[in-house]
Amino acid sequence: MSVCHCARAFVLCLFSASALAASPDGVVAVSHPAAAAAGARMLAQGGNAIDAAAAVQFALNVVEPQSSGIGGGGFMLVYLAKTGKTVVVDSRERAPANARADLFAPDGLPLPFAQASTSGIAIGVPGTLRGVDLALRRWGTKPLSATLAPAIELAGHGFRVNRFLAEDIVNDGGRTQLQPETAAIFRPGGVPLAEGDWLVQADLARTLKRIAAGGPDAFYRGPLARAIVQAQQRTRSELGEAGRGQMTLADLARYRPTVREPLIGHYRGWTLAGMPPPSSGGLTILQMLGMLERFPLGDPAQGYGFGSPKTLHLMIEAMRLAFADRAVWIGDDDFVPVPRKGLLNPAYLATRAALIQPERRMETPLASDPTPWDTVGSSSKPGLTRAESPHTTHFSIVDRWGNVVSYTSTIEATWGSGITVPGYGFLLNNELTDFNFLPAADTARGGANDPAPGKRPRSSMAPMLLFKDGRFVAAYGSPGGATIINSVLNVTLNLIDHGMTMQQAIAAPRLSVTHAAGKVSCEGGKDHMRPEISIASQDALRKLGHAGLGALGANGCNDTIGSVQAVATEPASGARSGAADVRREGTVIRVNP
Ligand code: GLY
Repeated sequence: MSVCHCARAFVLCLFSASALAASPDGVVAVSHPAAAAAGARMLAQGGNAIDAAAAVQFALNVVEPQSSGIGGGGFMLVYLAKTGKTVVVDSRERAPANARADLFAPDGLPLPFAQASTSGIAIGVPGTLRGVDLALRRWGTKPLSATLAPAIELAGHGFRVNRFLAEDIVNDGGRTQLQPETAAIFRPGGVPLAEGDWLVQADLARTLKRIAAGGPDAFYRGPLARAIVQAQQRTRSELGEAGRGQMTLADLARYRPTVREPLIGHYRGWTLAGMPPPSSGGLTILQMLGMLERFPLGDPAQGYGFGSPKTLHLMIEAMRLAFADRAVWIGDDDFVPVPRKGLLNPAYLATRAALIQPERRMETPLASDPTPWDTVGSSSKPGLTRAESPHTTHFSIVDRWGNVVSYTSTIEATWGSGITVPGYGFLLNNELTDFNFLPAADTARGGANDPAPGKRPRSSMAPMLLFKDGRFVAAYGSPGGATIINSVLNVTLNLIDHGMTMQQAIAAPRLSVTHAAGKVSCEGGKDHMRPEISIASQDALRKLGHAGLGALGANGCNDTIGSVQAVATEPASGARSGAADVRREGTVIRVNP
């Protein structure tokens, strides 16, 4: 097994990653080395990408507990080499059966977000364990218990706290301090764990062992289910009864993941397979690509190319237009009709792209009406949503047979609700805050993203697969709330328009706008993010009227956006490689069984 460890040795990793390009073997790319090792172990033991994905997800619950785990949900994109078929396992959390559209606004006014998002009312019925179990039973080769073994060892024996976990404990917005069980794990004796500290999670180890012995029913039924229901009764004192969760034992027992067809789109001769609703990820990315395809983004001779003002301006405007549509039209389309065809119709996208002016920032765009290009008949207005958290996690795996997993998973905010299930050692999500906080005004439609019983909140998660001439080329994705969509767009443009390798495409600085009226955020303040978005390009954007970049002549690109972990196959030779992101402790492991 050879390891490329990116977090502290980026240049070394760049070369190591390209050296890996000759490998015909399995590759895992994960945001934490111990979780990457868990996946590699499955591959080394003869398992496939689905087995490895299960082991990575459970290990992440232990070593990156602030981002994802069995208390949350996610979207797993699986490419099956034998049939050439791609499937989606949607394990998104669901609203309890008692949830109403005014879940977060019981008296007509939205509850205060900080309190609601750390109370039981925000907790959706978790889906991760059922989703992983379903994927394993359909396409894996190993039993659930085998894939849990590395996580059980990591939780029981412990692991060294890395910089990212330590920083997230310190910068927790109070979330590791609100509940005694959470504080006991991450702030023992009132002192936040620091980088290099050894963390043992005995309760979590016992929980994972129970699941290994009893299967998912040990989680969704019985004492553990009762403990979850009890934990989500917790409410911040400011909210009282309004903050109590409404989940019941029946909600947990009834939870099932959904297997879906991926959303397929095309860009400059490449094929993309992405996430359909209830995620907005796939539709929004394909909308932006559909608008941008009209422009020669990759051609410096025409003033475009990576980081040029013309390219960046177009990206920003396409983001603003697509996010305006997203706010109105996208929700869980098992519950509301989402005009998918209309949103992606080339004629509709031409009307949207025509709003982009080359010489100035357009006025705040509204959503348009794609329904004439679709079969859906009515329109709706956006409900009030809240800023989405920068957390979540993404990993990618290819096995020696060519099966691929691209998996984005979350407990929503960093630390989720902050509520650890007492005695069981895992955090519960606050995913329901991805619903409209104030229901949409259009009651005839109910609002595409208004809460409803059993409904899934709209997501931004966007695991992606890229194909050329029918062959798998790359799997990638990112954390980052709504910025996920833009991180995946940036990487896609870097690969296709700017001709970068996957490692270069990941390293390059990103740019993001997540609201029609929104400000630009961008990267470039750090040495490892190259080629830079120059001050001259930033000034050109400022002169076009874009906000968020600060004063003329200054470097306003100081954000950190997403963390992309990817695997790729060279179409001609079939050689496999991995690429990891220094924005977390990204790690690539190649496996020669
Ligand atoms: N909670 C993050 C997302 O679903 O996009």
